[in-house]
Amino acid sequence: MMTLDFTTGQKEDILDLSRAIVIFVFDGIPNLIIDDAVGFRNHAASTDEQGTIYMMLEYLEPATPDAILGLNEAYNNDPNPAKINLSVGVYKDASGTTPVLSTVKEAETRLHSSEVSKSYLPMTGLAAFNKTVQALLFGSDCELIGSGRIATAQTPGGTGALRVAGDFLHTMFPDATVWLSEPTWPNHPGVFAAAGIQVQTYPYFDATSNSLSFDAMIDRFNTIPAGDVVLLHGCCHNPTGVDPSPAQWETIADVIRSRALLPLVDFAYQGFGDGMEQDATGLRTLSRHVDEMLICNSFSKNFSLYNERVGALTLIARSAPEAETAMGHIKLRIRTNYSNPPAHGGGIVAAVLADEGLKAQWHLEVDSMRERIRSMRELFVRTLAKKGAEQDFSFMQQQRGMFSFSGLTPPQVAKLREEHSIYIVTSGRVNVAGMTESNMDALCEAIVAVLD
Ligand code: LMR
Repeated sequence: MMTLDFTTGQKEDILDLSRAIVIFVFDGIPNLIIDDAVGFRNHAASTDEQGTIYMMLEYLEPATPDAILGLNEAYNNDPNPAKINLSVGVYKDASGTTPVLSTVKEAETRLHSSEVSKSYLPMTGLAAFNKTVQALLFGSDCELIGSGRIATAQTPGGTGALRVAGDFLHTMFPDATVWLSEPTWPNHPGVFAAAGIQVQTYPYFDATSNSLSFDAMIDRFNTIPAGDVVLLHGCCHNPTGVDPSPAQWETIADVIRSRALLPLVDFAYQGFGDGMEQDATGLRTLSRHVDEMLICNSFSKNFSLYNERVGALTLIARSAPEAETAMGHIKLRIRTNYSNPPAHGGGIVAAVLADEGLKAQWHLEVDSMRERIRSMRELFVRTLAKKGAEQDFSFMQQQRGMFSFSGLTPPQVAKLREEHSIYIVTSGRVNVAGMTESNMDALCEAIVAVLD
């Protein structure tokens, strides 16, 4: 592994190295890291004595497909009409389609007739959107909102929020490590590595009992150095579907405060666990214990706005001036990343949440998505037993949100894909929201076949 710093004017040909990291440094800050830059050749060295011109892209080896979106691409390319996709976390209704919510359609109609300009948004996005995000996260009567200690920036999806948070942390606190649950969303390590941040893991899941490794998690928290960042899943843990109880959240918040750690809450599934308010328990408990926190939330799932890329990065500071200063630095990270967010998705969310009637209707739409996922968990467990599975899958009924860790092994997952065109993440994570009454029999028969 080699690091090439362009500010030093180093210009060596690194064609013989199998891996390299290339860092472009501006103003003393590393801005871009390209990992696995296999066979990179700098432009100045691209001809030989015979005058042959070497191209740059020809030296690239194929990239490793993304653990989730790569599978989704493979599913899309699979010609089998009976294929089933339980890979990417996208909600499907009973007919197997990802619906546009009726409240979203209504908000779009209103936006279409009232929109007068497509000029840039501010770097932090729509102010009305940011206000409604804070109310959804903490409740509209929360004292934080009036205090000015909270500040929000609209971002392109929850992933955009995580990347901006990563860039902010790396720039302002270069020595901080981000601690991730083991396991976690496969994109978390990649997003933070791309931002140049060190990551480490803490124990989270006990595969023997299919439950939270609570004591081991707290023991690890008690060893993390002050000033490090702990990433917590606000609800519907991805990939396990296992969340801390309200009492456990109190302990987590206590330890985080006493160890002077910074909590970063990834909150992508509000409303998909037990309900909009209940799912915010962890976040709100933390906010009562700690003075500072970062929250990355997403509206991909609960507004079914996947391709509009709408989410937010919210920060809580000890005082209003400190929140303003921190947001000033976040704005710089936004500016060098995507400049300012796209407007449409944020406009929809703001329009729905500002209208009491639409908001109530939206709550019902989220309730019905949550209820369908819960009923699919039950049907899945029942159907597996009916089809002859000897293993007990009833633990999946206790898990929450879109995902469950099924316990299927990587070879079983590969067999499902190769022999049955059933797509599941290699870790055994299944998207329960991709199951329907129509695909359940075929799915469970295939699983029973690979379990043998
Ligand atoms: C997932 O975990 O499948 C979703 O969050 C979608 C994604 O971007 O990976």
